[in-house]
Amino acid sequence: MHRRGFLGLATVLVSQRAIAQMKMDDMPGMDMGGHAGHDMGEAPQSTVLLPEGKVLRDLPRLANEAGTPGLFKAKLTAQRASVRFAEGLDTPILGYNGTSPGPLIEAVEGDRVEITFANRIPEETSTIHWHGMPVPADQDGNPMDLVATGADRTYSFELPEGSAGSYWYHPHPHGKTAEQVYRGLAGAFVVKPKIDPIPAAYGDTVLVFTDLRLAADGTMPDNTMTDLMNGRVGDHVLVNGQKNPVLTVPFGTKRRFRFYNATNARFLRLSFDQASMMIIGTDGGLLEAPVAAKEILLSPAERLELIVSFDKPGPDTLYTLDYDRGWMGAGRPVDAGLTLFTVNVSRTPAEPVPPLPDRLRPIAFLGAPAVRRRFVFTETMAMNASGMEMGFLINGAAFDMNRVDIVAKAGQVELWEIVNKADMDHPFHVHGTQFQVVEHERDGKVSKPAYLAWKDTVNVARGETVRLVLRQDRPGPRMYHCHILEHEQLGMMGIVDVQA
Ligand code: C2O
Ligand code: CU
Ligand code: CU
Repeated sequence: MHRRGFLGLATVLVSQRAIAQMKMDDMPGMDMGGHAGHDMGEAPQSTVLLPEGKVLRDLPRLANEAGTPGLFKAKLTAQRASVRFAEGLDTPILGYNGTSPGPLIEAVEGDRVEITFANRIPEETSTIHWHGMPVPADQDGNPMDLVATGADRTYSFELPEGSAGSYWYHPHPHGKTAEQVYRGLAGAFVVKPKIDPIPAAYGDTVLVFTDLRLAADGTMPDNTMTDLMNGRVGDHVLVNGQKNPVLTVPFGTKRRFRFYNATNARFLRLSFDQASMMIIGTDGGLLEAPVAAKEILLSPAERLELIVSFDKPGPDTLYTLDYDRGWMGAGRPVDAGLTLFTVNVSRTPAEPVPPLPDRLRPIAFLGAPAVRRRFVFTETMAMNASGMEMGFLINGAAFDMNRVDIVAKAGQVELWEIVNKADMDHPFHVHGTQFQVVEHERDGKVSKPAYLAWKDTVNVARGETVRLVLRQDRPGPRMYHCHILEHEQLGMMGIVDVQA
């Protein structure tokens, strides 16, 4: 790749006007609330209203075309489609098989998966990345393995025993990931265990959160400077593509949910008004035991599995709480008080269901690391003739597809220390494996996570250090990056080459 092209991707030019605006925001007494200044002088804020309160729809499922047990075979076509989010407005989107979120894929541990990807996005390369899944490096839809527009390719991999979890899929072509995702390309991939410790009577409801921005004409505006710096935050958080959908359940219902943060950059700190939540699983599957939670924080790309108990008749809502993840410039979006989802708990009592087991599955600690590595996240700003250049760096470097950043050995446990010296939170993600968070450190205070868990994405708050252990079992190049997709685009990504 040409050095010039690479620099163009690795930095963003910020106009003098934007800098002046940022300086103003540092002044005491400035009003930071609301959406004012959101676009730094670009497209005006949309006032499009979306209908709310429709019945929560089940995600469409990807049908298995294989006639043989143990094989999951299907086709996913990325293509232009049109969706009516708002009354009388057609919104052009990108969808997998025409829908956004894409079809829900459900397979079982031990299955072999063969999914043919047809890239029908006009004039753009793409890939399908199997986020969090234990797939070989050459099947993982890395930015190095592009699928040209008009071309097809089949991804194939086995789902090993013990890999049950809440994964997802999305494109990963460098420089275009953020846009292809916010235009609609993302879907859930649930791997079920052969024997599920969670009672089937709890159901299994996937809720995919996305973040939509609509202009007055129904189109999705392009990313602005503010979006590139902070990551794109939209105007409407959608659940399975709907705004504030409604689910009706009898009182006493226990329901299993899988929450997916499939937004580019929105941090979701969530709580129900009434219902009580038990966390039973994370990105890479079940915990050892359920953990009660009053609220949860889902940073971009994270997933949680929950059992929610609806014990009081009446309406209940899933709503957002304030979370300050660091914001550059004006127009920090409103985080608090958004109603994402409503549950009408009826007066009819639910049929009795079996209790949630105390033990879900064992998780073995990965063990003492043989190697320690340190990754320092920084944001840089430099003045040049045309304005300000922003870069998002790991260990001082912006992503270069032709550079291997680190070399690791398959099967060896490593300790990764992720140090966030920047002004924003950065959700850190590694491909190809699941890791275990060991500790967090902030202002000299060390804390342990509340539970041992398998994760592929962890938020590293500004000023925080997160230490995690991981082991890559399959050779090949693997990406690691911030999952604010605009930051990944602007350079906050690296390659670990895993050697056999
Ligand atoms: Cu969701 Cu590089 O991944
Ligand atoms: Cu990934
Ligand atoms: Cu980031």
